[in-house]
Amino acid sequence: MSKRSRNRRRDDALTRVIAVVNDKGGVGKTSVAANLAGQFAGAGYRCLLIDLNRQANLADDLGFRGSDVDDRGAGLLGSVIAGTPLTPAVDVRPGLDVVCGGARLEDLTPVMVSRLQHHGREAFRVLGDVLAPVAVDYELVFVDCPPESTILTDLALAAARWVLMPTRSDVGGLVGMTLVADRFALAREINARLRLLGVVLFGTGTRSTAVHGEVRSAVEKAFGGNSPWFETTIRHAERSAQDARRLGKLAHELEIAAAAQPAWWEALRMDITAPRLSPTAAGVAGDYRALGVEVLTALQSAEENERDDDRRGAAGPA
Ligand SMILES: Nc1ncnc2c1ncn2[C@@H]1O[C@H](COP(=O)(O)OP(=O)(O)O)[C@@H](O)[C@H]1O
Ligand SMILES: [Mg+2]
Repeated sequence: MSKRSRNRRRDDALTRVIAVVNDKGGVGKTSVAANLAGQFAGAGYRCLLIDLNRQANLADDLGFRGSDVDDRGAGLLGSVIAGTPLTPAVDVRPGLDVVCGGARLEDLTPVMVSRLQHHGREAFRVLGDVLAPVAVDYELVFVDCPPESTILTDLALAAARWVLMPTRSDVGGLVGMTLVADRFALAREINARLRLLGVVLFGTGTRSTAVHGEVRSAVEKAFGGNSPWFETTIRHAERSAQDARRLGKLAHELEIAAAAQPAWWEALRMDITAPRLSPTAAGVAGDYRALGVEVLTALQSAEENERDDDRRGAAGPA
């Protein structure tokens, strides 16, 4: 196979890889990646989640930390070193597979530093190389990126087709966005297909149009005018976020569990002392559903435009 058709095949395999990125921690990257992937899997899409975090919060959100499938990043590290396809943990939820993160990813940074010295920025393509043979089995792939870790985020940006950026509305969140924009521009030198899918405002307690406008103008300043933007915001719901990490359940799973719990007076009568689940999970789950619809619509319309461009290209100049 020629290099050109090999590259084309690689690009096609990676066409629905979405990196969830922001250089700032605590802006919702892991929550958004886990909940979108979990909801899409629940709706029948084959999904893969890749965790590039040493802390592996995804293992908490999905409730598999310390279980047999949790390799703490060893599989991902091994694949990158050997150049062999990733081996995801299968069916962490029905239809949802996971490439685990964890402490073993510590060793990835020195490996990459040495490769960068020998091969320059092209070395970042390795994650796409080991992902492409596996990605063909999935309809959607989400990469949960770490905060403030240049090399691991650069690996994700070199593999992904799309960037989805959650942000909070505070100043710190907005600074993180500018850093991502710089890194995004650099990544496009080796991954010209990389695009911003959209920015989503996370954990917001306000419907204030002034605040939303402020964030929006920060996005446009960082990424240029007409930057895509999701209308859906993920509401601030601290108690349901705590339930999620404590129980290893996604918002829509908490929604079902909260609806099934006995009324508080019945729980009292039955002497049930377990803490009650917050009913706000239903609202959060609804936000993720709305975001999922927007994400899918954005992907489909971008793909349609691309097909039109291809057809026009094949037809040649009029
Ligand atoms: N809807 C929400 N409202 C408020 N806090 C939330 C919500 N969802 C998650 N959180 C909490 O916000 C914090 C940051 O979320 P996380 O997804 O881990 O961000 P990041 O991956 O960017 O560091 C976590 O403590 C998480 O439990
Ligand atoms: Mg995280």
